[in-house]
Amino acid sequence: MLESTRLRYIVKPARVIENKPISGSMHILRIELIRHSVEVEPFNFFNIWVPRVDEIPLSIAYADSKSLFFIYRIRGVGTKTLSQLKPGEFIGVKGPLGKGFKPLNNRRWLIVAGGVGIAPVPFLLSFAIKTNTKIDVIWGVKKSDEFFDLSNVFGLKQRGWRLIKVSEDCQDGLCGTALSVLNSVSINDYDVVLAIGPQQMLLSFCRMLKDRENVYVSLENMVKCGIGVCGSCYLKGSHKLLCIDGPVFKCSEVVDHLESSIS
Ligand code: FES
Repeated sequence: MLESTRLRYIVKPARVIENKPISGSMHILRIELIRHSVEVEPFNFFNIWVPRVDEIPLSIAYADSKSLFFIYRIRGVGTKTLSQLKPGEFIGVKGPLGKGFKPLNNRRWLIVAGGVGIAPVPFLLSFAIKTNTKIDVIWGVKKSDEFFDLSNVFGLKQRGWRLIKVSEDCQDGLCGTALSVLNSVSINDYDVVLAIGPQQMLLSFCRMLKDRENVYVSLENMVKCGIGVCGSCYLKGSHKLLCIDGPVFKCSEVVDHLESSIS
C-alpha cells in the first residue's frame, strides 16, 4: 500500500512483536503495522501511542520488510507503561515523521552518540552498507552496562562502519565521554559530523566544532503532535519546527535554541 502524507499523519494500528531490555538501561520495541506499510529513512521518527497513557516520539532504530524497531529508555509513566506491553498487544503509531537524513555514496561520516542517542544509528548503518558510505561511531555512556551489541541485535554486517565505545565508569571501551574522544579525532577526515544525545552534550559539541561546515545535531524530546500543529517543537531563533524540518539540523541553525533551552 502506498504511503501518503495523509497516511503519515493518521494513527495506524500496530502489534507488538518483541519488547524487552537489551542493556542495563535500554529496551527494544519491535512492532508490525496492521493493514499498512510505510517507507522510512534514517532519522524519521514515529509517535508511539500507548492507549490511555501517552504518545511517545521515538526514532526509527531499524526496519525490515515486516517490522519497525525502536530503542528507548524508561523516563516516565509513558515509557514505563510501554515497557510493560507484551508481544501480541496493540498500540498506535503515527509516522514516519520528520525529514530523513541519509548518507550519500562514498562519503565519510562521524557519528557522536550519547547514551540512548544511539537509537537511530543502526538504521543509518544499514544505509551505509548499501551506499558505500564509511561511518565511524563514537558511542559514549555513563555506565558500561548500557552498551548492547549493535551487530547482534540488528543482524548488521560489520562492513563500512566502525564503533568506538567509551564509558564514564571506564569498565568497557575507552575511558571518558563521547566528546572527550571527539577531541582526539581528526575531524578533517570526515565529510559529515553529526551528534545525537542530551541537549548539553549537543551544545558542547556545536561549540567545539563551531568553525566547521557540515556539522549537524539530531534533536529530540520536544515533540508532541508531530505534525506541525501544536508548536511545542518550535526552535527559538530559527523559525523552524523540529517535527517538520528536523530532527537533524546544522549546528548553526540550532545553537541559539540549545543555549536558551539550557540556560
Ligand atoms: S510537535 Fe507539534 S508542532 Fe512539532
